[in-house]
Amino acid sequence: VPGPSTWDMARAFRSVRADPLTFLTDVTQRYGDLVAFPVPGPPVLLANDPADVRHVLQTAARNWSKETVQYAALARVTGPGLLASSEPNWIEHRRLAAPAFHHRRLDAVAEQVRAASDAAITERLGRSFSAGLVDVASLVHRVGLDAVGRALFSADLSEHAQRLLDATSDAATLVVRLGRSVLPSASWVPSSTNLRLRATRRRLDAISAELIAERRRQRRSSVDEPHGGDLLGLLIDSELTDAEIRHELVTMVIAGHETVAAALAWTLMLLAEDQAVQDRLRGELSEHSGPVSLLGHRETLPWTRAVVDESLRLFPPAWALSRRAHGPDVIGGRDVPGGTLVILSPWLVHRRRESWPEPLAFRPERFLAARGAPSGYLPFGQGPRLCIGREFALGEMVVVLSRLLSRYRVEVPPGWTRPAAQAQVAVHPAGGMPLLVRPLARV
Ligand code: HEM
Repeated sequence: VPGPSTWDMARAFRSVRADPLTFLTDVTQRYGDLVAFPVPGPPVLLANDPADVRHVLQTAARNWSKETVQYAALARVTGPGLLASSEPNWIEHRRLAAPAFHHRRLDAVAEQVRAASDAAITERLGRSFSAGLVDVASLVHRVGLDAVGRALFSADLSEHAQRLLDATSDAATLVVRLGRSVLPSASWVPSSTNLRLRATRRRLDAISAELIAERRRQRRSSVDEPHGGDLLGLLIDSELTDAEIRHELVTMVIAGHETVAAALAWTLMLLAEDQAVQDRLRGELSEHSGPVSLLGHRETLPWTRAVVDESLRLFPPAWALSRRAHGPDVIGGRDVPGGTLVILSPWLVHRRRESWPEPLAFRPERFLAARGAPSGYLPFGQGPRLCIGREFALGEMVVVLSRLLSRYRVEVPPGWTRPAAQAQVAVHPAGGMPLLVRPLARV
């Protein structure tokens, strides 16, 4: 399998760490859809052909586990929650959490997401905002955190829930540092990262314990009350231990807010760059009667949904997934041994010319006629480990766009250059996303 030499890798060492997206894009352009990296031990491959991606994530998923550096780094913060877990009991945890994402439940939390959007918009822009440059990335970050908290914990975020959200958001930066360390550091070494990690875990453990105890107390004092269907209630009523509940809560917050916030920031950028697409979206929203729900947008708001789908194609927040082979397999027509590590990058697959003509152009119409998931499109993964929050995330994005864009226009400022895409837990715009925001009545 073609790929860079050891010498190439040594020279690229800094850029691999600082800007992995550019590095992966370069090696793909140079070596093609299947790239091998020269590392000691079992092979490490980058696979971009949609057929190979489907094979690893879906068809042969049983042979490919999450025992990888990426998920080990995540688990050092989250513990073995749903996203990082490579345990066989992952499926039981998924079954437990699933009702929190059921359609009926999502219907009920739409109001919370609308409220979270309006609150963040008012907080950031103020009531008498006239027009100006606004970092929309930080605005949508607040919405993402608040919306996921209200959906998963409770409508009226308790003080403990709010503290857990803030602490988890801080912890996400640590996941990035751990994921970037090329040499696995022993956890007993008193390095600055390990010390911060220990402190972060202690803080997350303490706040989760308080949050769980608070809910257990409420549960005892209202024996006949149903758990309300939110994730915390479902987990508390299950057989899970407090430690397991903590892993799932932290996992959901990390997986659920960074991704949605990054996706919204890029979507607003694409809309600011293309006023015709933004006007069409606003026109569709103005014809929509009643509040926007979290579901059914393909029928009720097809253009808005196509904008979201196309934005997730160009800027998929989850830019790399990884799997390790239990036993021998065949990838791209090549035999690979057990232990092989495969990196799959939605970022690269979505920009493949063979799958997407003019891949870098923003064209929501690509998705208007789409039935089912197009081949070579996996912003939420594929197969049994598909994102459990997919419907919630898509719905949340449409609701936030509807709240913001029915009152404001976004534009690029003069002398605009796009912020660089920075691969963190999700792909974020480096330095934020400063856009011109104008109240509509004044346009
Ligand atoms: C899994 C992307 C929003 C919770 C995944 C995976 C991807 C992904 C690609 C699969 C990872 C893999 O196979 O290695 C996204 C994107 C989102 C988003 C792009 C937003 C635009 C959310 C939300 C939540 C969430 C809102 C929860 C509130 C999870 C969990 C998993 C997961 C728990 C693991 C599922 C399992 O393995 O059973 N996500 N996600 N995600 N996501 Fe999301």
